[in-house]
Amino acid sequence: MEALLVSYGVEWANLLVRWLHLITGIAWIGASFYFVWLDNSIRPPKPGSDLEKKGVSGELWAVHGGGFYNPQKYLVAPAELPEELHWFKWEAYATWITGIAMLFIVYYFNASAMMVDKSVANLSGLEAVGVGIGTLVAGWIVYDLLCRSPLGKKEGWLGLVMFVFIVAVAYLLTHLLSGRAAYIHVGAMIGTIMVGNVLMVIIPGQRKLVEAMKEGRSPDPIHGRRGKQRSVHNNYFTLPILFIMISNHYAMTYTHPYSWLVLAAIMAAGVLIRHFFNLRHKGRVSVGYPIAGVILLLVVAVAIAPRPAAPIAMAAAATAPTAEGAAPAKAAPDFAKIQAIITQRCASCHSDKPTQAGFATAPAGMMLQTPELIHQHAAKVFQRAVQTKDMPLANMTQMTDEERAEVAAWFQAGAK
Ligand code: HEC
Repeated sequence: MEALLVSYGVEWANLLVRWLHLITGIAWIGASFYFVWLDNSIRPPKPGSDLEKKGVSGELWAVHGGGFYNPQKYLVAPAELPEELHWFKWEAYATWITGIAMLFIVYYFNASAMMVDKSVANLSGLEAVGVGIGTLVAGWIVYDLLCRSPLGKKEGWLGLVMFVFIVAVAYLLTHLLSGRAAYIHVGAMIGTIMVGNVLMVIIPGQRKLVEAMKEGRSPDPIHGRRGKQRSVHNNYFTLPILFIMISNHYAMTYTHPYSWLVLAAIMAAGVLIRHFFNLRHKGRVSVGYPIAGVILLLVVAVAIAPRPAAPIAMAAAATAPTAEGAAPAKAAPDFAKIQAIITQRCASCHSDKPTQAGFATAPAGMMLQTPELIHQHAAKVFQRAVQTKDMPLANMTQMTDEERAEVAAWFQAGAK
């Protein structure tokens, strides 16, 4: 009973923290999209106009929610510091804090089930957590050094090197952790870099600008430039990180043998599509970028499309052709047999009353304790137990390959 209450409490913690993470993430990325749009859309004031004399380098007019807005950007800073200045930093910090809290709730507290995949690497739960946290720290250090190195002055090359670095991390993680955990840690590393940019570069730089102005010095424009560089990087990270945030719903991506390459291609598509919007704000419409992005996604979709699963092929080869000559490859197993397998291997978690420690309710709402439910979810059962093989979770209930082949044969014969 106590254990049940604990896992029920953890479920609520999960819900609330995830909700908060979404809210703050939307506020942060929304603000980021807005400011990049603003910065790319402003136009210089007329030469000799009052605005120009005031030091305004660009402005625009917008109408929203029944009001007219006229933001103006100052080349470095206004001559006089306004009384109230908005900073935009807490949405970034709160997104990171809730994200890390979710890593603990979902992954680190349950590492042997959620992070370890013995068929990938023989790590302990603790080692897997070490790999996860190490990735976040190392990711920031490498990224920050790259930006501060001479490479930091060559935007295009820096972007390329960063991309290669992130793909290398994805490769490493998918060879150490379960697919889901690997993906989410690539995302957490990117998120950590993004918030590091805000905390360690953008905000301190802005503080220096403000200090200089208070002391009547003209501020060093390097802080503005550096902040701008990091904020542009953050902008290109947004679409890849948003994909990773939802990736754990799509087992076909992170369970693929080349899952790191799948991730690389999807991230690249995100960057290409983001680039299109950044150019468009400036008035340049280059449809080549989003078209390339969409083609990339199509190529991924085709490349990872499920092939006839291996166990079925084996079963087919082992069975002589029937009198009619062609398939069915193998007599469909009795449903009673399938139900026995599912009850033993799946229903300890997937039922209205899970018996597996740590599960208060059926994961993902998926219940398989009756024949009706098994029939209802036949396609999903086939997908996760035969095609992606990432169920049972961490194979905790030790489903055998023969059992997977039985489920495959049953499903292929019409899941009766
Ligand atoms: C140890 C607990 C556990 C066992 C045993 C288990 N699962 Fe799961 N299952 C989970 C968790 C946790 C999730 C949610 C995370 C995810 O989707 O990867 C899940 C999700 C699923 C989903 C996705 C549901 C949806 O609608 O998104 C399917 C399908 C599924 N499991 C099928 C199975 C099958 C089939 C078996 C038995 C062969 C099985 N599971 C055994 C824990 C388990």
